Amino acid sequence: MEYSLRCVDCSREFYEDYYYTCPECGGLLEIKIDLASVEVDFRLDGLNLKVWKYKSLLPIRSKPVSLFEGGTPLYRVNYIERDLGLKSVYVKHEGLNPSGSFKDRGMTVGVTKAIELRRSAVACASTGNTSASMAMYAGKAGLKAYVLLPAGKVALGKVAQALMHGAKVIAIKGNFDTALSLVREVSESENFYLLNSVNPFRLEGQKTIAFEIVDELGYVPDRVVLPVGNAGNISAIYKGFKELKELGLIDSIPKMCGIQAMGANPIYKAFLTRADDITPKENPETIATAIRIGNPVNAKKALNAIYNSDGVSEEVSDDEIINAQKLLAVKEGIGVEPASASSIAGLYKLVRNGVVGEDETVVCITTGNLLKDPETVIRVCGKPIEVEPDIESIKKVL
Ligand SMILES: Cc1ncc(COP(=O)(O)O)c(C=O)c1O
Ligand SMILES: [Zn+2]
Repeated sequence: MEYSLRCVDCSREFYEDYYYTCPECGGLLEIKIDLASVEVDFRLDGLNLKVWKYKSLLPIRSKPVSLFEGGTPLYRVNYIERDLGLKSVYVKHEGLNPSGSFKDRGMTVGVTKAIELRRSAVACASTGNTSASMAMYAGKAGLKAYVLLPAGKVALGKVAQALMHGAKVIAIKGNFDTALSLVREVSESENFYLLNSVNPFRLEGQKTIAFEIVDELGYVPDRVVLPVGNAGNISAIYKGFKELKELGLIDSIPKMCGIQAMGANPIYKAFLTRADDITPKENPETIATAIRIGNPVNAKKALNAIYNSDGVSEEVSDDEIINAQKLLAVKEGIGVEPASASSIAGLYKLVRNGVVGEDETVVCITTGNLLKDPETVIRVCGKPIEVEPDIESIKKVL
């Protein structure tokens, strides 16, 4: 398979895998696969789902560093479907990946690329999940891992993962956006391979979410709804659908719907005025710490995905996020972290506003596992009731 790295701003193409951004104008790069050179060696038959089923569409030439990522379930959510009065609603639960989030799809490709480029260390800034995933795959690959986190703003489960899998974890007294700009600088000077979603190879792994949706469902849904933080995932999934369409494997692309938290909503704001870039949001704040991002690096790609698929952006409050998290857990048996629940909260709002039609088939993506953020659970559900160890005391509280 042949591919180049194409700049989304100046359209120049490059053939060196080690660029993250355009060396000419600084724009974002996208992997442009020469689809005519691809020999598709998989069938969309619903079988054997995993990231590397789709290797013929991934820009990797070596043996993958894999922990069996992908192949996540696509649940039909009957209660929510009835509650909303929609034809069919599915949840693709990315929280069931090896590290508990969709980031593993990107990391298996990104870390394999780090090995191909003969790097000995990888680095990222993270709201948590990227660091957990990167640490796991770096460990597996024998690479050093360096992580910059916004101090006090990362869910406990994620920090625990990054630490236990052996990353050097540095908490900065600043937010994610500052951490990202610092890690980009440090990676340059220290020759670390940067694994944030500005890295176009990482997004290649994440595009397999689109492949799996079509593979599992057997057709193309009308709409895909997902949380948006740094805006890599929505861009990646759109690219996946686009490639399937260009290959003639599907004949439509779902409307891509990006949901943001109200306190961290630059993409939503840009969407309202149909702008093709964002104005960064200073001091972003939300209970959904995974998407607490004010200056999403992939904003241009994401807005392009939304406009070109006839999609939308919506914003949801922290209360709406927590209500949706509880609904998924209690009524559907799906345990997700707050950021992930914003997809469901967003769908409710889009239905309420008349954006989604009742004959639509919708896939919501839940990006991370409930276990990632136990502290928020205790805050919103309270602690277990403590009683004396006797039957009377138990009966009293039943
Ligand atoms: C659980 C979860 N959901 C959503 C996102 C947002 O993804 P993206 O930054 O690609 O928009 C993240 C990113 O950290 C995440 O961890
Ligand atoms: Zn350029």
